[in-house]
Amino acid sequence: MNLDKILQHNEKWIAEKLSLDPDFFKKLSDGQNPEVLYIGCSDSRVTAEEIMGAAPGEVFIHRNIANLVNNVDMNVMVVINYALRILKVKHVIICGHYMCGGVKAAMQQTDLGILNPWLRNIRDVYRLHKNELNAIEELDKRYDRLVELNVQEQCINLIKTAAVQEAYADRDLKIHGWVFDVRNGKLTDLKIDFPEILKNIMEIYKLI
Ligand code: CO
Repeated sequence: MNLDKILQHNEKWIAEKLSLDPDFFKKLSDGQNPEVLYIGCSDSRVTAEEIMGAAPGEVFIHRNIANLVNNVDMNVMVVINYALRILKVKHVIICGHYMCGGVKAAMQQTDLGILNPWLRNIRDVYRLHKNELNAIEELDKRYDRLVELNVQEQCINLIKTAAVQEAYADRDLKIHGWVFDVRNGKLTDLKIDFPEILKNIMEIYKLI
């Protein structure tokens, strides 16, 4: 990749934006008011803004390997708190993707060094859903399903935070579990049934 091209592209992009709206950057510098927090994978193929058609200022974004919401990861926790308590976003999207290298690695018996504690979170998702996953004989289909279940469990992890519980009580915050398919570009809402899932566990995780 020619890095000079990036800078040239940037010049073109500025000119393009200004030709459509001379105040474009003036408006951007006035501040941000995004309605959506997106938590997705760092994978270079899953370009958050591009797949969603989102413009600058519309989506607050956090990406990490395998789109995890880990309660001791200061980075994701600070992003969630800031997005919910200060920016007061109305929607949180957790977006996983098929062919996720992080999920695949978590299905293998391999020592990956510092990645081990990170991917352990996905192994725990596997343990929680072992019966369903092991019943899927085709490995590729099992891998796809683990990607989906990982999104579901990360959505549940979101709900375990005080910031999300507070936003639920204060306003009608919506949480969405999505999956992106790098094989065809399709973005799908997994339509996770939160009331059903939370019915039996909220007594454990309720903070406020
Ligand atoms: Co990934």
